[in-house]
Amino acid sequence: MRTIYWDSGQDEVHLIDQRLLPGELHYLALRDYREVADAIRQMAIRGAPAIGAAAAFGLALAARRSRATAREALLHDLQQAAGVLRQSRPTAVNLGWALQRTLKVAEETEGGADELRAAVLDEALRIAEEDVAINKRMAEHGAALIDDGDTVIHHCNTGSLAAVDWGTALGVLRMAHEQGKRIHVLVDETRPRLQGARLTAWELEQYGIPYAIISDGAAGYFLSTGQAHKVIFGADRVAANGDVANKIGTYMLALAANDNQAPAYAVVPTSTIDLSLAEGKQIPIEEREPGEVLNIQVGGQAVIPAGATARNPAFDITPHRLVTAIVTENGIARPPYSSSLRAAVAGKLAG
Ligand code: MRU
Repeated sequence: MRTIYWDSGQDEVHLIDQRLLPGELHYLALRDYREVADAIRQMAIRGAPAIGAAAAFGLALAARRSRATAREALLHDLQQAAGVLRQSRPTAVNLGWALQRTLKVAEETEGGADELRAAVLDEALRIAEEDVAINKRMAEHGAALIDDGDTVIHHCNTGSLAAVDWGTALGVLRMAHEQGKRIHVLVDETRPRLQGARLTAWELEQYGIPYAIISDGAAGYFLSTGQAHKVIFGADRVAANGDVANKIGTYMLALAANDNQAPAYAVVPTSTIDLSLAEGKQIPIEEREPGEVLNIQVGGQAVIPAGATARNPAFDITPHRLVTAIVTENGIARPPYSSSLRAAVAGKLAG
């Protein structure tokens, strides 16, 4: 199942509207890069690799719809569109990475506006195809860390929906399952937007992987009673020292894993590793609107008093000391991350 694809007949980007899942599987058809920026901002599409691919396709739309006839004018329009797309969400580095990669191809392509238009679309298609291949390679590396009989706690949604297809951390669990390992997944519901309960559970249903949804606060109980053996998650950005920015709650989950000597694994494509940032505290953390926290209803009734306020950071930083290993498409990075992540990005990870 592709989360996002280019419709060459219509010159449109089609993407699953994840806000409607699990009730309805509906693809949005987008014709303008501003619509793509809105879809990212409003989380119709979400997950670091998926928003990277969306941004690249957004530039392809900008190139298609631009009226520029001269090369320089088209490059100017692309820069402007990239600026709008870059603002849509701040934490996942894949977004800026995909924009930079696509713009660079446009700048380095020789010829006029038509050649640039074709090159931008080709690069967006390449980013999307590579994402699927990279995820499968990560899954193969990561599945070696999962044993027959494991119960694994998974945070947020990191499956096909968070990428172009297949996914990162959930892709590892899917691969282990396909290899015949008997695994059980404890799915953190992932407040406030419930990516675990809504999206990960929906995917696990389709893969036939046994699972149970747990409230986020229950993870420590399952780890401390030996009912969960490992913890796995993705990332929106990894700093050069191995600090991991991921969905809010990951830090507490990794703390609980560490206190119970359970391994905590991050699964990330190298496009999520930001070697320009020395440590996690430099990673921008998106704070979303309080309504996402406040609008809880039970039995159709609001449960929070009128006038209540809330804070809603969407991500947190898990310090590298709590991360047992970081799985990439180029192999498994282990501490010290300051050297192993550089090797992973360069494709020179030993073993
Ligand atoms: O706010 P979201 O749903 O975009 O957050 C997504 C996550 O935190 C994922 O864990 C992360 O992007 C890695 S998944 C491939």
